[in-house]
Amino acid sequence: MALGGVKIVGVGHHAPAHVVANSDLEQWLDTSDEWITARTGMKRRHWAAAGESTSDLALVAANQALEYAGLQATDIDCFIVCTVTPDYYFPATACLVAARLGAKDRPAFDISIACSGFIYGLTAASGLIRSGVYQRIMLIGAETLSKILNKDDRSTAILFGDGAGAVILEAAQENSFLSSELGSDASRPELLYVEAGGSRHPIDRAALDERLNLVQMQGREIFKTAVIKMIEATAKALEKAALSKSDITLLIPHQANKRIIDAAAHYLEMPGDKVVTNIHEYGNTSAASIPIALSETVRAGKIQPGNVIVFVAFGGGLSWGAVTWRWAA
Ligand code: COA
Repeated sequence: MALGGVKIVGVGHHAPAHVVANSDLEQWLDTSDEWITARTGMKRRHWAAAGESTSDLALVAANQALEYAGLQATDIDCFIVCTVTPDYYFPATACLVAARLGAKDRPAFDISIACSGFIYGLTAASGLIRSGVYQRIMLIGAETLSKILNKDDRSTAILFGDGAGAVILEAAQENSFLSSELGSDASRPELLYVEAGGSRHPIDRAALDERLNLVQMQGREIFKTAVIKMIEATAKALEKAALSKSDITLLIPHQANKRIIDAAAHYLEMPGDKVVTNIHEYGNTSAASIPIALSETVRAGKIQPGNVIVFVAFGGGLSWGAVTWRWAA
């Protein structure tokens, strides 16, 4: 079967109004602005207000993307939300977003693969369009990680933030999707997980007392694997697309830690001005981080037709992935 092309025609992003600076965290955690800045590159993060949910953030980003593309919600054939902080176990957050946009009859589903969500989503959505199943897909990465953070744990509370980024993918003559490399290894899920709340460990009194319904992470272990897997995934995605490092115009990495980004950029021989970072403003917003960074970069006019972009991420699972993308007019 001959595959068609796909391109991005709309982008949007949104973060909650409430900003939590490093100095705010100092008020109740044994930490400092100096430590957080030096070890992570983060200065601020946005945390949702009580009652503000993932679909609330996704909705704003989606409306922005529709406006950018000059489209109505009813022009979209399918909605996908990548998230590990859905509004509910079910229905899927994508169903809520579609209904709230006024496209309630459309297919809609979520992808749950933590910080790699947008890379998996971009691969799946591009495949659905290139194989002719859908003409237009709204792909959103949206998270309210502040709702599942243990705010008393300085090793995780400082790292994560809330936000949403949306892209609209459309069938096209030219093809932007060049290659994808995805992977996972859950031999040690406890490296980064929420232990209680699923079928293995339903929430009970003891789980709540021990805060097992909140994020737990072994950061140092993850750091090493993150650097290795992001480099490996990028190298394999470049090889699949018959590209070399020097062909990359822009690297848009998941924003987990500035030191992880710097290590990957160093291997790829990418100077700082070719690496998109907004970690100082948002912290780690998991599946939302890459689409937020993409939307900011596109809206700032920093991407031109023909530019080759590498999106690369790493996260809970463990999971990882990279996509190479040629920006279309
Ligand atoms: N403020 C001050 N000190 C802190 C701290 C904080 N917020 N968090 C940890 N520390 C302390 C530790 O207790 C430790 O103290 P010790 O030496 O007395 O034992 C010291 O700082 C060093 O801790 P370590 O965990 O080795 O720091 P690190 O340089 O690895 O940085 C992370 C910690 C979490 C920032 C880093 O490991 C990381 O980013 N890992 C990847 C996490 C990630 O990306 N997760 C999401 C995947 S998408």
